[in-house]
Amino acid sequence: MNWTAIGSPDELKFDPGVPVRIGKRWIAVFRQGTGDLVEYFAIDNACPHASAPLCDGTQMHGKIVCSLHLWEFDLRTGACDVAGDWSVATYPVRERDGQLEVGTPD
Ligand code: FES
Repeated sequence: MNWTAIGSPDELKFDPGVPVRIGKRWIAVFRQGTGDLVEYFAIDNACPHASAPLCDGTQMHGKIVCSLHLWEFDLRTGACDVAGDWSVATYPVRERDGQLEVGTPD
């Protein structure tokens, strides 16, 4: 696992997701909750249906709804509600020394 710092949580502009490029991957990072209950999630940014950027979707109830055809993806598991085999990859997110870091496979 490689960990890549993507910035301070306070400085990243979640709208609702933040697109980041790590190596050859475009990843969308999302924040959910507030205060001590805040959680971060990272998934592939490109929707597997027609490649719309999931960072620009609508975030609600732990899911991101793609802005183009409204497919839904679970931020925790990457599972797609509409078509079972169309899930997206998920990546771990951690906070270290005031920075968010996203883990990607070696
Ligand atoms: S491009 Fe995302 S649902 Fe069609």
